[in-house]
Formats: sequence, C-alpha cells, structure tokens
Amino acid sequence: MTISRPIRFIRRGQRVQLTHVPPERTLLQLLREDLGATGTKEGCGEGDCGACTVVLGRERDGRMHYEAVNSCIRLAHSIDGMALWTVEDLTQDPLIEPLDEAAAAADLHPVQQALLDNHATQCGFCTPGFAMSLFGMYQTHVCAGRPIGRELAATELSGNLCRCTGYRPILDAAEQLPGLPRMAVREDSLLRLLEQLAEEGRGPGADFSYEAPETLADLLAARAAHPGAQVVAGCTDVGLWVTKQHRQFARVLDVTRARELARVAEQDGHLVLGAAVSLTEAFAALVARWPQLARFAARFAGLPVRNAGTLGGNVANGSPIGDSMPLLIALGAQVELASTRGSRRLALEALYTGYRQNAMAADELLTFIRVPLPAADQLLAVYKVSKRFDDDISAVCLAFNLSIREGRVQQARIGAGGVAATPARARQTEALLAGQPWSEDTARRAGAALQAEFQPISDMRASSAYRRELLAALALRLWHEHGPAPHDTLHALAPLTPAPLEEAAP
Ligand code: FES
Ligand code: FES
Repeated sequence: MTISRPIRFIRRGQRVQLTHVPPERTLLQLLREDLGATGTKEGCGEGDCGACTVVLGRERDGRMHYEAVNSCIRLAHSIDGMALWTVEDLTQDPLIEPLDEAAAAADLHPVQQALLDNHATQCGFCTPGFAMSLFGMYQTHVCAGRPIGRELAATELSGNLCRCTGYRPILDAAEQLPGLPRMAVREDSLLRLLEQLAEEGRGPGADFSYEAPETLADLLAARAAHPGAQVVAGCTDVGLWVTKQHRQFARVLDVTRARELARVAEQDGHLVLGAAVSLTEAFAALVARWPQLARFAARFAGLPVRNAGTLGGNVANGSPIGDSMPLLIALGAQVELASTRGSRRLALEALYTGYRQNAMAADELLTFIRVPLPAADQLLAVYKVSKRFDDDISAVCLAFNLSIREGRVQQARIGAGGVAATPARARQTEALLAGQPWSEDTARRAGAALQAEFQPISDMRASSAYRRELLAALALRLWHEHGPAPHDTLHALAPLTPAPLEEAAP
C-alpha cells in the first residue's frame, strides 16, 4: 500500500511538518486551506498571473538561493527540505532581521513599504504576488549590494500581472528598494535549520505516493518499478492538469532531486543540461554561449515559471507551442533517454511521434539534453511572436541556425513551433537553403518554402492564415536583421533589434 511521506519545511524560523498530504495537492491549497495562510491569492490557477507567488529558499554550494514560484501549480510535496515565505511572513519571520536602526523601527518589510510609498496598489489582489516577487529580488540582488535598474525590475516582475495600478508605480517601488532601511534573512541560522532537515533524512524506504529519489540510479529504479507513475519536474504544465482538469495521481515521481540531473557541463563539444536544471539556469547557460538569445530567454513565460520549470520538462512534455524546442532543434540538440536497461540518444526532433506523444518507453526518462557548442560561422536567430511581450505563449516560434561562408548558406537547421502537432524541423526549407547565396531572394524563397512545408491550425492564439504569414515574414526578417552583416564569426552578428508588433511592452 502506498503511503504519503511527511512534508517538512522551514517557515518563520520553525520546522513545519505535515502528514497525509495527497501527492497532487498544490502548495496553494496547502497554504490557503490547510494552514489558513490566505494572504497568498489565487487568480488564474495556471501560472500566468502571479497572484499566488511565494518564495522558496534552498541551500546550494553552501549558500542560500531564493526563487519566486507560482504556488498554484507547484505540488506541495516538492518543497520538502526547503524554506518557504508567504506574504504574511515578511513581517512575522524572526529570521528576517533589521540591519540598521531605521529598519528596526519599521513596521513593514522594505518591499511592502516601497509599494505603499509609491501608491503601487489599488484593488490589491495582485499585490501579495508583487510583494513576494520583490522579496525574491530583494534577497537575491538588493542584499548582494546590486543596484536595481528598470530592466532588472521588469524581468523580476515578469510573472506578475496587475490590471488596475499599472506597472509604473510598481517598477518605481522596485527601483527604490536599495535606498530603504535594510533587512535581510539571517542566512547562517537558516542554513543550519535546512541542514538539520537534510540530516534527518527522509525515513526508511517505504512505498511512498510521492517519490523524489536523490540519485539517478534510484530514480530509474523507481521508474522501472512504477511505469504508471506521473512523472513531474517543475510541474508548470502538470500543475494545470490538477487545477484545471482536477486530475488525481495515485503516484508521482519527481525527477528534480536526482543530483546527476541538476548539472550543467561541457562535454565532448556539447553543452550538457541535466533534466532537473531549471529554465532559469538552462537559459543562463545557453545565453552565456549564444548572447543573442538573451532577449528570447527573457520572454519564456515569466520568472516564477522559469524558476520552477525545467528545460527537460519542457522538452519531454512535447507541447507543439513549447518555446525551447524550436531553438534546440535548430541547434541540433540531442536528448538522452535512460532506463535501468541502459541509455540511448535521439535527435530532439525524433523524440516526437505525434501530438503530445513521444518515443520514450514506459520505463524510460529523459535525463540529459546535449547541445553542440557554437560554431564560428553560425548565424543563430530565434523569433517568438505572441500577443504580449512577457509571460505569454507563442503563436509561432521560429529558430534559424544557418552556417554562412563567403556569402553562401552552407547548411541550415530550422526549428518551428506553433505550426504543427509537434515541435518540428523544417527539413524541406533547410534543403532549399543549402548551397544558396545568402540574399533577400533566398530569404523570400525560404519563407515560401516554410509556408509550403507547414499547415498550421487556427486557435485562440492566432489564425492559420496569420501563422502562415508569419512564416514568410520571419524568414524575411532574418535577412533584414542579419543579411547585410558579415557572418564570418559569431561575434560579428548584430544583436536582435527591437521589433514592433509582437514585442510591445506590457
Ligand atoms: Fe495565477 Fe497562480 S494563481 S499564477
Ligand atoms: Fe488591482 Fe493590481 S492593484 S490588479
């Protein structure tokens, strides 16, 4: 018989332990319904509005790391062993200590005071979420002595929607934080508490309904033993099955605690990303190697989703509108699939066999993503077209990876999202481009080839006709942005310039 493992975490300097929590219970349900912490709000219930934002703290390399996440789609069991802050905790956590006299006399945390001083709240329903995203930013950046510019503030608040105050006063509040009386989490005390939790271990082995093995071998063994278990990583999609479809799971297998899968490394000319690496960390590794991806990386959902979601989860999930796959297909990425029987590698595009279907056997898990490192003559550009700049799903996502030498396309790889039942590789267009002079005429012919290659559907995000128009327009945009530039080295490429239409600020 399966039993529910206790959930243990640190809140307000105390160890909290909860038992008999079903595996699919969300953190928001736990907070509001079980703990009465109703300061955390529910808006959309799907990770899109940020009203439910809380901050999680965990030890990494001997230091505290703080992440704002959406509690509505986060499974409660996933916070075992971490520290948690809700909006109520900002003034009630004894581990948040004043660092100067003015702070000692203050009634509010600086993020609350800044929102108040700037009249940054009207109906207030979104405000707890903004306060928590600001708290995450405060601990990560302000406490480290970094200045808060408009751009950083907008990125940190990219997962929070406000429909009455407007963003100007909220961003003003964020920018003023470094100048306010200072408070900070007492990290040495918190690290000790977290260490005690970790030392307790997780009790003797039993048939638990929520399993989060700490090694790859244990994870694969659990997968083999229970091929019917619901596999989760950051849960930013599976969470919606719970909140929107009211699904229940008899058993959940969480891949994010397996140490081997949390690593980013370079190996044999590849960037190797473990399946438990968050989208925030994965994009940081990609942007470090392809700086021109910074703009695109910042447009993947909002920060709380990027903090919780994983690149492996996005790829394994196989949504036709998942934003990472067109890029990874264009880059020539491979996925590694593993089971207790061994492992194998597949080209990413070969993973998908139909709408939300893939080539993984029942006992296999996606363990690593391998991306070839940048080449000297590489022209890489990726375009996401959505109605909103931040925190939105693509109507079309198109990634081009051209190898251009002496004015001629040597090779092309193109990944496309939003235009077929699966993320797709545009093989016919790639074949047309190979060997052609890199010119406006070639770009136009590539656009026509893309239109012939895909038959996108109409849905709430865009009509079929619009998506087809985009395929041609984006090929031409590639030429206009990068055509006349020299392509002899990666660093000679101009960065993506601001574009109208799809990149309007929120
Ligand atoms: Fe909207 Fe969670 S309630 S993101
Ligand atoms: Fe009303 Fe933000 S203050 S939605």
